[in-house]
Amino acid sequence: MTKKTENRAVFNSKFAAIATTVGSAVGLGNIWRFPYEAGTHGGGAFLICYFAFVLLLGVPVLCAEYSMGRATRSNIFGAYRQLAPGQKWQFSGYLGIIASLLILSFYSVVAGWTVEYCISSATGSLDFSNPEGEHSQFMALTTGWRPVMWTVIFLFCNTFILLGGVSKGIERASNILMPLLFLLLIAFCINSLTLPGRNEGLSFLFHPDFSQINSKVLLSALGQSFFSLSLGLGCMMTYASYFSADTRLGKTAITTALLDSGVAVLAGIIIFPAVFSFGLSPESGPTLVFEVLPFIFMQLPGGAIWSTLFFLLLFLASITSTVSMSEISITYFTEEKKMSRRKATLVSSAIAMAGGLLCAFSFGPLKELTICGMTFFNLFDYVSSNIALPIGGMICSVFVGWVMDKRLLQAQFTNEGRQRFPFFRLLVFFLKWICPTAIFLLFLDSIGILSLLL
Ligand code: TRP
Repeated sequence: MTKKTENRAVFNSKFAAIATTVGSAVGLGNIWRFPYEAGTHGGGAFLICYFAFVLLLGVPVLCAEYSMGRATRSNIFGAYRQLAPGQKWQFSGYLGIIASLLILSFYSVVAGWTVEYCISSATGSLDFSNPEGEHSQFMALTTGWRPVMWTVIFLFCNTFILLGGVSKGIERASNILMPLLFLLLIAFCINSLTLPGRNEGLSFLFHPDFSQINSKVLLSALGQSFFSLSLGLGCMMTYASYFSADTRLGKTAITTALLDSGVAVLAGIIIFPAVFSFGLSPESGPTLVFEVLPFIFMQLPGGAIWSTLFFLLLFLASITSTVSMSEISITYFTEEKKMSRRKATLVSSAIAMAGGLLCAFSFGPLKELTICGMTFFNLFDYVSSNIALPIGGMICSVFVGWVMDKRLLQAQFTNEGRQRFPFFRLLVFFLKWICPTAIFLLFLDSIGILSLLL
């Protein structure tokens, strides 16, 4: 899949560029985080803000990350340094490293739940005839020692892949299995559309009640759009550093964004009709999807098989995402600190393991330990997704819009003049003005300053 040029791997095909970036983008963010964020923030109102942010802010920032990565063939630190030598932009790379490790910590806990569900479905220990039992089983699952164990096991798998153990295998497997996940989601969607709560569910998701849009909804939708596109921390920048000279950046960005938000919407169409059919609440937060899905599997013939397959694919989707977020700190340690890849991987994994344990315990012994009213799990999620990602994205957009050499930038989008890219001026306008201003205003709004000024 990859060939070496000048000591750095380059993806051979355009398909590989799309497959790996989509592999990074599609994960628990779409299937677990999107439905619960939409559920707690008003459904349709959230969806419309999320879509607007994906298209107006996400796509331009994705283009910015791609162009910086491929122009420099470097990690986030090296990219800022090469493009603006002597300036201090690369310090934003530290934000990327810290936030990616925070995300890895709580993400591994949820990925651990998918492993638990997969194994219990396969061994028949999940009782599909008794959803209430299922519900309490979930409570037991998230408070006992097993989630801690699965978090640790998940992180071990992640480390193993990063050490090169099965990375080729994972790449090949995900090229086949990710489309399969997509098909499975479509099948579940069709099933959900036959449920009695269909109309209520769809209207919750697709009929926005604009009066529900407030600063919290806006900030969460912004965080979700960046989280889902793996933006703001230099993750996509690092992946783009492996793109070939022929990869069309604009097209890849749009394709990634559409596929990624498509998967999120599919997840919404699966979850919300079921929520209303089975009398659950859309506002139950991070546990929503894990509580709702067993109800869906319960009424399918061969529920246990569907469930095993689904959670297996979700596990794979999560691991292609965690591999990408681990790459941020690993390339930092190897390229900036000159560590061996092995050592860099072990150091990053050890930090993630410590964070992962804190998050896993926050469903058990550390439940009462809250900071600003949030457990470690919620705090890590909030700080990284709603604060670090938008700030990282804002810095990247200001940098590419104002500082990066425009001829170099244009050469990236036209592949050195070999292709046309009619949206160049529009893109630069967005990166210069729209993205930074919008993100800045959303921040002012969320801390209540905007309402004082207006
Ligand atoms: N986008 C992934 C998901 O939706 C998560 C992810 C992978 C991520 N790499 C990232 C989020 C980098 C932020 C930054 O599951």
